[in-house]
Amino acid sequence: MNKTALITGVTGQDGSYLAEFLLEKGYDVHGVIRRSSVDYRERIAHLEGRPQFHLHYGDMGDSMSVLQIISKVRPDEIYNLAAQSHVQVSFDAPEFTADVDAVGVLRVLEAVRMCGLTDTCRIYQASTSELYGKVEEVPQNENTPFHPYSPYAVAKLYGFWIVKEYREAYGMFCCSGILFNHESERRGETFVTRKITLAAARIAQGKQDKLYLGNLSSLRDWGYAKDYVECMWLILQHERPEDFVIATGEQHSVREFCYHAFKAAGIELEFEGEGMEEKGIDKKTGKVLIEVSPDFYRPTDVVNLWGDPTKAKQQLGWDPLAKTSFEELVHIMVQHDMHKVAVENVADTLRVNLAEYLEKGIVK
Ligand code: NAP
Ligand code: GDD
Repeated sequence: MNKTALITGVTGQDGSYLAEFLLEKGYDVHGVIRRSSVDYRERIAHLEGRPQFHLHYGDMGDSMSVLQIISKVRPDEIYNLAAQSHVQVSFDAPEFTADVDAVGVLRVLEAVRMCGLTDTCRIYQASTSELYGKVEEVPQNENTPFHPYSPYAVAKLYGFWIVKEYREAYGMFCCSGILFNHESERRGETFVTRKITLAAARIAQGKQDKLYLGNLSSLRDWGYAKDYVECMWLILQHERPEDFVIATGEQHSVREFCYHAFKAAGIELEFEGEGMEEKGIDKKTGKVLIEVSPDFYRPTDVVNLWGDPTKAKQQLGWDPLAKTSFEELVHIMVQHDMHKVAVENVADTLRVNLAEYLEKGIVK
């Protein structure tokens, strides 16, 4: 019998890679999607129609739908990835973030209990390095104290602790993966890496003049999302339910990410000035391409994330050194966005030509 997995957040960056990964392993994959007035299934469109891939409408804020889906699917494994995942947005929508990212986790755990799946269903919770927030230790491992520093992180902290509580209270196989930032060509366009790679591609192809960013000195441990979904699966295959830090063990600043991304797009940057006055300048032309804007600063910002993946390496056999490097990650993202922008340019030209031909009656 094939195993059955349920993925919440299947339309997201990680959900789409995880669905591919599990289908490849022979799983029956069920995904939870939200009803929306626009099509947002771009990341999973290529999987729809496969006999082993099934979608269900639901919402993490709606206990009934969570319960109904779990009782219908009766999964062997649940990957709870659904979340309002943008840290800056969590300052604007703190209540929604708490409902989905904190209480949403409880809804999944309780639904599993109500469906009598306590002993058979394993649950992965998408936890985060944001729990370390205003960091108390560098690098951070499974024993580093938490100091959440945004409404998002506070909500995720509840998710982490309720998972631990259900593990201890009811003996459930539920675990948190404390994942550090992981990016890809499927990353949402308002996260800093994708914002930079898209802007680098647009600027290189004459479609954008300038990129405005917030804190350029912020430090992150960036990995490749496609590599990280394997760990979610490994955590659930482990003999004991435990929490794991997943990271590369390497740290880079937003400024460095910009430098490498623009270089991959054919532009060498140099940075001048400090703080709000800092600018990223095209070394060849002297043109200012990057400026700092207060709009992208957060009321409290997490600035020093650096993960220690030793436990995952020793116990799961997951070695980040054998995975995609920082330079490769930037390259993959920039190549993807260079292509995307080039295609958009051609489509724009065709649209303009077609409009002209229609107007002149050349085509009907
Ligand atoms: P993402 O691209 O923003 O995807 C989030 C997913 O959650 C989307 O499918 C979204 O659906 C869904 N969702 C949001 N609110 C929902 C609701 N109320 N009901 C049902 N589904 C809802 O995020 P990601 O980067 O793939 O991250 C996956 C998970 O890992 C998240 O929990 C995130 O907090 C966590 N995490 C991410 C990272 C990272 O660096 N990427 C690191 C640590 C932890 P729509 O498509 O309908 O919006
Ligand atoms: N988004 C964004 N936009 N961030 C900027 C910008 C900007 O214009 N300029 C500077 N930054 C800085 C942020 O202040 C932050 O310190 C850093 O870049 C990374 O921001 P994001 O890419 O938005 O990611 P994040 O680290 O806040 O959150 C992501 O990673 C977490 C894991 O640590 C999300 O994926 C979370 O869901 C995830 O838990």
